[in-house]
Amino acid sequence: MRKPIIAGNWKMNKTAKEAVELINELKPLVAKSKPEVVVCVPYTDLWAVKEAIAGSKIKLGAENVAWADSGAFTGEISADMLKEIGVEYVIIGHSERRQYFGETDESVNMRLKQALAKGLKPIVCVGETLTEREKNKTKRVLKKQVLEGFKDVVDFTDIVIAYEPVWAIGTGKTATAEDANKTIGYIRSLVKKTWGAEVAKSLRIQYGGSMKPSNAKELMAMRNIDGGLIGGAALKAQDFASIVNYKG
Ligand code: 13P
Repeated sequence: MRKPIIAGNWKMNKTAKEAVELINELKPLVAKSKPEVVVCVPYTDLWAVKEAIAGSKIKLGAENVAWADSGAFTGEISADMLKEIGVEYVIIGHSERRQYFGETDESVNMRLKQALAKGLKPIVCVGETLTEREKNKTKRVLKKQVLEGFKDVVDFTDIVIAYEPVWAIGTGKTATAEDANKTIGYIRSLVKKTWGAEVAKSLRIQYGGSMKPSNAKELMAMRNIDGGLIGGAALKAQDFASIVNYKG
């Protein structure tokens, strides 16, 4: 019922030239893919990737979006700028933005509302750090991120949530499939309580954090897991394609 969605988050990797090479290698490998396939790429790669994916099933995403329409926000990129290129998806609130660039649940909420108002499809990231997990604070942290991050949002049709336990990002440590499924189930129950059963049932929630060809199938087999947000493995066409084609 919920269409799986596999998205690559390239982070700060690939020049425009390298991006085109990667896309050209990737295109034939995902031509028959069943899940929705998205690549979220650096701003400077967007035009080149947009041209490179033309005629394929791959969809274009960015890695952030400003909350304001335009103006004195040095270094930010507006929703209109992204829309004009043809960007469909946008990552909001990635843990690296929260950790290194002062992103908060409040700024996530502002960016999210702007993305929705402008017709961009947000992939909103939530997840606990290792310390929070060890202190048994996972649920409390997720509750705050979801309730504050999604404050005032009523329509979840275009929203994807990515559950990314921070301790699993780039570390090679993956949450076990059961664990990820359970935590994502908790996020779904939170959504159900606040926004209703219909929203919770149709909302797509991805897992992210060291997802790779060897664990994709097991994670994707879980009832609550509707896709993946892939970092490192999205930078290699073969690996990303194996994840996309997890069903074989
Ligand atoms: P890795 O797949 O490299 O662990 O990164 C996950 C991630 O942060 C995706 O947004």
